[in-house]
Amino acid sequence: MVDPDFIHQDFERRLREIPKQGMGLSVDVYTPDLFELVNRFREQGLQPGYLEVFKATTTALTRVRQAMPDIPLAYHGDGLWITQPDVQASPFFQQDVYEIVTQLNSLQSLWLNHECAMKQMAGYSFGTYVPPLYTPLSAKVVAHNISTVQQAMDRQSRRSDGTAPLFLLEMPPLTYFAAGTMPIPDFFRLVTASVPCGLVLDIGHLWTVYRYTAACRRVSLEQFVGQFLDEFPLERVVEIHIAGLACHESVGEPKGGEGLPEWIDAHAAPIPSILFTMLEQVLSHSNLVSLRAVALEVDTKPIEMIVEEYVEAVRRFSPLVQQAMARETAVTQLMELMPCQVPVQEPLCRSDRRQLRDDYARYAQIISGQVSVTGPEWQDVAAEASGLTRYRTSYVSHEILHWGGDLTGMFPQTCRILADRGICLTEFVSFWFRSPRPLTHSYDFFLLKIERFLEFVTERVPESRVCVEQEGAMLRLAYAQANEVGESVMEMEMERTR
Ligand SMILES: [Fe+2]
Repeated sequence: MVDPDFIHQDFERRLREIPKQGMGLSVDVYTPDLFELVNRFREQGLQPGYLEVFKATTTALTRVRQAMPDIPLAYHGDGLWITQPDVQASPFFQQDVYEIVTQLNSLQSLWLNHECAMKQMAGYSFGTYVPPLYTPLSAKVVAHNISTVQQAMDRQSRRSDGTAPLFLLEMPPLTYFAAGTMPIPDFFRLVTASVPCGLVLDIGHLWTVYRYTAACRRVSLEQFVGQFLDEFPLERVVEIHIAGLACHESVGEPKGGEGLPEWIDAHAAPIPSILFTMLEQVLSHSNLVSLRAVALEVDTKPIEMIVEEYVEAVRRFSPLVQQAMARETAVTQLMELMPCQVPVQEPLCRSDRRQLRDDYARYAQIISGQVSVTGPEWQDVAAEASGLTRYRTSYVSHEILHWGGDLTGMFPQTCRILADRGICLTEFVSFWFRSPRPLTHSYDFFLLKIERFLEFVTERVPESRVCVEQEGAMLRLAYAQANEVGESVMEMEMERTR
């Protein structure tokens, strides 16, 4: 194992190349329209300190860079499942890394932020992020995969001054449950001990860790946050996120006022005041010594609410953010001599890889309700089963049937035929998770939905094949056209903001 001090010094060297940004926004190019959002800010005499832009087409990101030369940009990647033991063996891994590097370069990005989470595992696909297994073996795999991606960034995203963007790993939200054998802070400590990455601490995600682990039954939120921050590698946190939380539409608001709400990560929703209290606690912690930026994560949120929340957050937290960014560790002379190179990771042995592959296959089958809860990493989940039950019975089927494309809206005619035959759409959920499937393209949930629904209908009602294929073809065409139209709308918007 490489000396953790060496790793940390490499991190500090890379960190020094990242200018302090202060408060900004984490945004999507399209929802809400980024050009409209920035114009609205300008009309009010405001400018975000920086923008972290979510993955979009490379053309769209290039246009954002060109239209906003005065705003520092960072990149929020997606679709690189670094939690997975086989990700580097995927036929699309090189292509996905190449796309990430290209998009980093298009934005002239400060860093690459990616969730420590996945939407695909062991041949099973989901619509939203699922957290990793919190086990030592899983942490080892994450570090190994980050190391490979950082090396690619060092080679292909190197700037003229010799520096390259830094990989930041974001602690993901919990959606009702967490599986593992170790505390979450220890997991991230294992990762950062092996690879010189930074971290993103999302305050809302931290709230969900309190809510969906035993902590909420043991200690107060304030105590939990205090203990968590003492144990988490806070000295690696480069960026903080804060965003909305809400009850999921498949669950609804709680009837009584008892207990904590069943909130999950929800960027369109208002930021609850409790998160600002937590933010204050985080910013005041003496171990927060590497902070460069704090973003309100506002994709899918109405523009009015974004402006209102940003103004209030800057008014309330700007001095504290400045203080936190000024807190630095002593930089050793030694670092001047060190090469900026990611240490080569020990290769994963075959049995570790096989073990984790099996663990993730069981993970996917458990959370989709295909098999019962079993295994050491599921003990705590089994002890408090209501969270997993919520995920299995409400959340995951909503995701397959409605999220990222409502099936009855996508395939109106075919769904009518299925209804006439007495075939309930929930059968499609079982079909979706019936068996693992080899990946046929880089992750795209909408295209995957079309592909799987065609297979489902062809199997259940073979005589409807022509109908479902026609509807599928129209959807694919509209999807491709929408991307092209999106590009030309971007072009017009760019002219307008010049
Ligand atoms: Fe986040």
